[in-house]
Amino acid sequence: MPILGLGTWKSASEDVYDAVRAAIQSGYRHIDCAMIYGNELAVGRAVNDAIAAGEVTREDLWITSKLWNNSHAEDQVVPALKKTLGDLQLDYLDLYLIHWPVAVRHEVLGAQEATDYIALADLPITTTWRGMEQAQQQGLTRLIGVSNFAKLHLEEILRDASIPPAMNQIELHPYLQQKELVDYCQERQIHLTAYSPLGSGDRPANLKGENEPSLLENETIKAIAAAKNASPAQVLIAWSIHRNVSVIPKSTNPGRIRENFAAAELELSTEELERIAQLDLHRRYVDGSFWEMDGGPYTVAALWGA
Ligand code: A2P
Repeated sequence: MPILGLGTWKSASEDVYDAVRAAIQSGYRHIDCAMIYGNELAVGRAVNDAIAAGEVTREDLWITSKLWNNSHAEDQVVPALKKTLGDLQLDYLDLYLIHWPVAVRHEVLGAQEATDYIALADLPITTTWRGMEQAQQQGLTRLIGVSNFAKLHLEEILRDASIPPAMNQIELHPYLQQKELVDYCQERQIHLTAYSPLGSGDRPANLKGENEPSLLENETIKAIAAAKNASPAQVLIAWSIHRNVSVIPKSTNPGRIRENFAAAELELSTEELERIAQLDLHRRYVDGSFWEMDGGPYTVAALWGA
């Protein structure tokens, strides 16, 4: 798996076509997608146009997508994946992830009221995983994994699985280093992908807290960047690569897309890595509080296993 990929969360459909074309032309071979991003049709057009133009082959590319919360029943996984494949105009994915350990009724996308949710006690994550295993066995995806899973959710799957998850995609950056979960996964050959590696400053207002600390403005990150003639974003991306964690910075700006890709060449010294290790605030930007609703079955504490 190419360790550095292009993130597409929050990329508008009208921008993401050019972003994916620019990314492939800049050397990216890994694109991270999801049904809920609402832009897979445009990503698919870009990928297929790049292939038709002879810039890459399908086999050169690594395409990840994710199962949404409203298709967690065992027999809903393969149809959901086939819809994503249709939108992306692909025969197979490289990796398909359960997006969240959260289930909602099939008719809803985002829960509006508590009764829109289905508790994990009623639709266990192991049931969803069986659907994921069928998707892989049918050749619709080469690998399967999860996203936003805490250790307790991984343990539940690992107890029951015939195919263990190949990936856990979680929020990771210097303010949220999650060392214990990273070690747990890496010891079990569950690879990690870091989302929101730059702090996702373009999140919609309802997903933002007050007075959020800015990663890109952090003085240590800026100082390391200045000393290396690099940008703060490049330092953040390189930090993830140095942890052997895949990283998917989102950009729709061609200059920043290129800049982010060049971060793979940036070497950080042991001393610089130690300074970054000191920055941990255990601070989530995507805190999952949007799943918490009065009378509903999900709480932030249970979600992250606190
Ligand atoms: P843009 O898409 O205009 O480049 P994350 O990957 O953590 O979700 O962060 C995405 C945010 O970071 C977007 O607002 C994106 O803006 C911005 N961004 C992406 N690359 C860079 C960069 N190299 N320098 C500064 N901001 C960046």
